[in-house]
Amino acid sequence: MAYDVVVIGTGPGGYVCAIKAAQLGLRTAVVEKLPTHGGTCVNVGCIPSKALLYATEMFSEAQHSFASLGVEVAPKLNLRQMLAHKKQTVDQNTKGLDFLMKKNKIDVLRGVGRILAPGKVSVAGADGNTQEVETKNIVIATGSEVAGIPGVKVEFDEKVILTSTGALDLEKVPGTLIVVGGGVIGLELGSVWARLGAKVTVVEYLDAILGGMDGEVASQFQRLLGKQGFTFRLGARVTAVAKSGAGASVTFEPVKGGPAETLQADAVLVATGRKPYTEDLGLKEAGIALDERGRVKTDHHLRTNIPGIYAIGDVIAGPMLAHKAEDEGVAVAEIIAGQAGHVNYDVIPGVVYTSPEVASVGRTEEQLKAAGIAYAVGKFPFSANGRARAMLHTDGFVKVLADKKTDRVLGVHIMGFGAGEMIHEAAVLMEFGGSAEDLARTCHAHPTMSEAVKEAALAAFAKPIHI
Ligand code: FAD
Ligand code: NAI
Repeated sequence: MAYDVVVIGTGPGGYVCAIKAAQLGLRTAVVEKLPTHGGTCVNVGCIPSKALLYATEMFSEAQHSFASLGVEVAPKLNLRQMLAHKKQTVDQNTKGLDFLMKKNKIDVLRGVGRILAPGKVSVAGADGNTQEVETKNIVIATGSEVAGIPGVKVEFDEKVILTSTGALDLEKVPGTLIVVGGGVIGLELGSVWARLGAKVTVVEYLDAILGGMDGEVASQFQRLLGKQGFTFRLGARVTAVAKSGAGASVTFEPVKGGPAETLQADAVLVATGRKPYTEDLGLKEAGIALDERGRVKTDHHLRTNIPGIYAIGDVIAGPMLAHKAEDEGVAVAEIIAGQAGHVNYDVIPGVVYTSPEVASVGRTEEQLKAAGIAYAVGKFPFSANGRARAMLHTDGFVKVLADKKTDRVLGVHIMGFGAGEMIHEAAVLMEFGGSAEDLARTCHAHPTMSEAVKEAALAAFAKPIHI
């Protein structure tokens, strides 16, 4: 019997696409090679990392902030329980996805999916049996995998030389940890182990951490991480990572030239990006075009060059974010059902779940300058916000960038406690083409951290009240 849609891969892109397709009345199946749904995000990415980030943030606050609030405690780490909390969180999510597949009457085909031709997918099960299914449409949602360091052979053992997956599962806190790559994974997982006592050194190729983030935010954020005990070696290209004694060594050289240096640590986390996962999919045989970076090439409607075959998520261009994959999943299901599915790539928030959190949506100052767009800047620090003071979370600020002529908000950047939640009022505003004045004239409850967003918007075209 033929399906309307077969989705290969059940990460946030694939499972959301399948649910939406089923809701729209399409006969839908998913193919997943792992025993659980949820892909990188649920199994070894967003969800387990946030479980550990929350737990370690609580540990750190109990150690450093509670006494100032008048709460005397002597926190003691139970790493085994912390990892059990992480596992339980992942299990709850994967079980939830099993339920959603059943609820939406989606057929789950277990095994490695391969495109045999347009309308034909084979599924090779772990038991050695292969089945073939017919479908009007195929959605490739196979995600991404660890990229490693281009040109450098790294032998990951996930005990001492780690990818993010190993760094989510250490049985013991390393005394010293070198993180190769000062991007999102490096800073989030570096924070987890730094809070538990590891001395963390980040070795980063660029001159700044979080490349692509607003420069002012990135430099202030680096300063705060420095206060938390992070050491940074910027403008440093890592050329070797090797086992050394019970630990590992990392060799790097200044990008601008100079002698190489080698550092030794108990563990090394290599977090130098991810690459699209297209292995064993039969893309070449099916004639599906890839771009110069090995990603499945799609048009504005998420169609590949072969009719009836679509692609979404980390396997195509764009930010490698779960919510971007999800929105593309919804859009493809709608397009297949004959509706006007669409993703607004100008308004995709990004959050780094460190302390403080860093969140942004829209363009950075550097991007506006490069595009020659005249803009106004409004800023407001959390140190002048009453709620932030009450919670001892005064680090950070809000920055609103608005078009100089029209006052339309073009970008919002927040570094501060709860930034990952606050950013969404900016996203909604921008989705509706709102102005800084719209944001500033929207009544915000007092006392909230969000009042700093309102004040930053006010500062973009007039003056803030509380500073
Ligand atoms: P994936 O989640 O990678 O899922 C792809 C699925 O396809 C997998 O289940 C895989 O087994 C399956 N598959 C592949 N090939 C086949 C095949 N041939 N047959 C059958 N099945 C196949 N993003 C955020 O937005 N927020 C975060 O906080 C965040 N934290 C992260 C933390 C870490 C440590 C990592 C590594 C990533 C994080 N990300 C985060 C990124 C996020 O995980 C990805 O952007 C997201 O998972 C991409 O979704 P996807 O559906 O495209 O692919
Ligand atoms: P990244 O692209 O964010 O950062 C990689 C860093 O490694 C870059 O700064 C790069 O300059 C550096 N680098 C590369 N080669 C190097 C070398 N030889 N020497 C020194 N530095 C080098 O990639 P990361 O952190 O691995 O994350 C992968 C993806 O996962 C990201 O695209 C991100 O979107 C996603 N993710 C998202 C999260 C979130 O939304 N909170 C959390 C974790 C991951």
